[in-house]
Amino acid sequence: MKDSFGRNIEYMRISITDRCNLRCKYCMPDDLQEISHAEILRYEEILRISEAAIRLGINNFRITGGEPLVRLGCLDFLRALRALPGVGQLMITTNGVLLESHIPALQEIGIAGINISLDTLDREVYRTLTGADALDKVLGGIKAAVAGGLRVKLNCVAMQGVNEEAFLPLTELVVQYPLDLRFIESMPIGSGIGFTPVTGDTLLALLQRHYPGIEESHERRGFGPARYYSHPRLQGQIGIIDAVSHGFCENCNRIRLTSDGFLKTCLYFGEAFDLKQILRQGGDDDALCEAIRKAVENKQEKHFFRQDPAQGEQRKMSQIGG
Ligand code: GTP
Ligand code: 5AD
Ligand code: SF4
Repeated sequence: MKDSFGRNIEYMRISITDRCNLRCKYCMPDDLQEISHAEILRYEEILRISEAAIRLGINNFRITGGEPLVRLGCLDFLRALRALPGVGQLMITTNGVLLESHIPALQEIGIAGINISLDTLDREVYRTLTGADALDKVLGGIKAAVAGGLRVKLNCVAMQGVNEEAFLPLTELVVQYPLDLRFIESMPIGSGIGFTPVTGDTLLALLQRHYPGIEESHERRGFGPARYYSHPRLQGQIGIIDAVSHGFCENCNRIRLTSDGFLKTCLYFGEAFDLKQILRQGGDDDALCEAIRKAVENKQEKHFFRQDPAQGEQRKMSQIGG
């Protein structure tokens, strides 16, 4: 459906859990209070919201967390979501730690793509940044996903003084494997406030020095806000997600469902619509549909990350799902 700025809203990010088996410093504070199980939407509730969204033409879904693969029953849920009439593409964003053993099931379910967070190839930096010595597991997951023919994108959050050494080694993965790599300017939400992004322009200049002739492909390789670049040496493409320095709100196509049932219409703003309340007070499918429609109609025009850290948003990234 269209919002009031004429943007076509066709995609919903669904966070199925706020829990995570990592503690990335830019995402999740060590002492973060978990949302209680009673407050987390049950899978049946998420499926009802998804059906209502599909009725409005919002039929592509990305499942996020926390880490989605830590929630019990995640695969059965993905299978059920995939089977909903009218569903478009179903994708997942994961930290990759538990990925390797899940690949056959994800293939069988018909997942359209897997985005995997990977900010460094240095074991020590990885451990410091995420709190876990899990780099080999993530690399195993990436290789298994590629070998299984799944569409893989790596997400590297680019932060000054933290992982700048990693940018070129990560780019080498795109020489070695048919996958995309996206550099994401760290955004000032929750723990992200403590980090300074490396700008998309700085990253592009680095890429131009090491891959002379690299050029924008103007391809849309998914539903997200990345701008992609290609080069003959690269099997996949390099994407830049520069929400802070440039922004891409005029093309925004998405809404977000938090694990505790709030519908967010912009990553930046704290304001959200309580769909769980509608569900648990016995609201029918029309009521759900109406609430989503109203939320989309009120979707904000743009964020103000550059001027001000996320306005009113008290949730952490791990509770929003990125
Ligand atoms: P693709 O369809 O594969 O392009 O997915 P995606 O890039 O939208 O999803 P992913 O979960 O991999 O997110 C990558 C990064 O983009 C994360 O850091 C998200 O927080 C960020 N991102 C995704 N959507 C938005 C958005 O609407 N606004 C902003 N500011 N950042 C976003
Ligand atoms: N800024 C930018 N990206 C972030 N992510 C988590 N926190 C932030 C932040 N503050 C990324 C994760 C994951 C994606 C869903 O969001 O690295 O790849
Ligand atoms: Fe977990 Fe992803 Fe947040 Fe890291 S960025 S703590 S993997 S939710």
